[in-house]
Amino acid sequence: MIANFPFEIALNEAHFKIIGEVADAMQVPCYVIGGFVRDLILERDSKKDIDIVCVGSGIALAKAVQKKLPNAQKVQVFKSYGTAMVQAGDLVLEFVGARKESYSSESRNPEVEPGSLEEDQNRRDFTINALALGLNKDTFGILLDPFNGLKDLKEKRIQTPLEPGITFDDDPLRMLRAIRFATQLNFTIAPTTLTALKKYATRIAIISNERIVDELHKIIATSKPSQGFLLLEETGLLEKILPELTALKGIEEIDGHRHKDNFYHSLEVLDNICPNTDDLWLRWAALLHDIGKAPTKKLVPPAGWTFHGHEFVGAKMVYKLFKRLKMPLNEKMKYVQKLVLMSSRPIVIAQDLVTDSAVRRLIFDAGDSVDDLICLCEADITTKNPKRFERYHNNFKIVRQKIVEVESRDQVRNFQPPVTGEMIMAYFQIGPSRAIGTIKEAIKEAILEGSIPNELDAAKEKMKEEGIKLGLKPHE
Ligand code: CTP
Repeated sequence: MIANFPFEIALNEAHFKIIGEVADAMQVPCYVIGGFVRDLILERDSKKDIDIVCVGSGIALAKAVQKKLPNAQKVQVFKSYGTAMVQAGDLVLEFVGARKESYSSESRNPEVEPGSLEEDQNRRDFTINALALGLNKDTFGILLDPFNGLKDLKEKRIQTPLEPGITFDDDPLRMLRAIRFATQLNFTIAPTTLTALKKYATRIAIISNERIVDELHKIIATSKPSQGFLLLEETGLLEKILPELTALKGIEEIDGHRHKDNFYHSLEVLDNICPNTDDLWLRWAALLHDIGKAPTKKLVPPAGWTFHGHEFVGAKMVYKLFKRLKMPLNEKMKYVQKLVLMSSRPIVIAQDLVTDSAVRRLIFDAGDSVDDLICLCEADITTKNPKRFERYHNNFKIVRQKIVEVESRDQVRNFQPPVTGEMIMAYFQIGPSRAIGTIKEAIKEAILEGSIPNELDAAKEKMKEEGIKLGLKPHE
């Protein structure tokens, strides 16, 4: 949607009036610019991060505004960037003086030089992010749009105000931003901008992993992330950032044996899971669930292509990938690893008669991630055969139902053995030894297998039986 109203109405909130009045008193031309204006016109959720640009000192304006704004906190000044931030309630106002900016080619640190509003708009990433609305009394609500950003918003297009090569060479992160905005807003990238993305893809090397991951997360968080990943692939950026994924591309056919293109399949799985979860890490698991297939691929006639052990290899690759991209190596990474490692388990269960013991083992191994795992497996159903599609989904319905049944009866989700090591030692009057581990394992196996219930009395009986087998004497 494109807002169709006089912009001054949208700026009716008190803070804009106050900023305008302060700027008038200082005789400084002042504008709200960037993402706030873009989202306002698109009628997206109003941003709480608001960029204010003035032709003069942004820091001085911030300090003066802070004095007039109700519940404004202390001004935070970022001297080297010539910017200042004022927080008031849930608003974050970023002030900057208009500048013509050029970045040094080895880093993203800009050399700052004061400039006009148009020079400032010119150096911004995309025409849709260069729109400015006047805040002074005589310009209040007037849209300044020298690069036809409004037209690009209406025609759903991402393009740079300058020759795209200059914009991307200045700050290569913008290549990812172009793709991220195209994905978030469902826009297309203008042909010249797209060509430049391909040309400058290697420049992504100077961007920090943290910033890259930040953009990847924003793409993954959209409702159709494949759109972004296809663009990343087309432009050559994906190869630089996530070579594990591009390695999955292609279909090989030898002696009539074919396998599916696991790159496109992974993107389909990622898209499929989006309506069912907003959890970023579950979405990562969907994207990465098959990454072990590239290194494990092997043709084994007459069976065909195999990917033996790909889940195990894939889980190891998750660690390396997270480490390389400086993503957290904490429980989030372990969660993704676990889902990748277990990603084929429910499928195997669902293909057969769904037995209680198989479901019990699944719950035991997956713990609290079991529902997410099933969600991943359902997203993994990408067959184009409607009969099979329905059958697989029905099988997972049965698995889900069985999980609930088994759970309510056996409580194995966060399994705690009913018989402890101390109890075994006391019962057989023995000290710490291997026998304790052997007996505990036998009890756990019996519970998972369903040969005894997950209860104390039954477990004690099993303990006695197993101890006797090991030549121990009960002391009741
Ligand atoms: N900008 C830019 N180049 C960048 C980053 C930002 O030109 N590499 C400019 C754009 O005009 C952008 C504004 O700075 O609109 C604010 O940047 P930011 O807050 O990162 O993005 P938004 O456009 O506000 O959108 P979002 O919050 O969704 O990232």
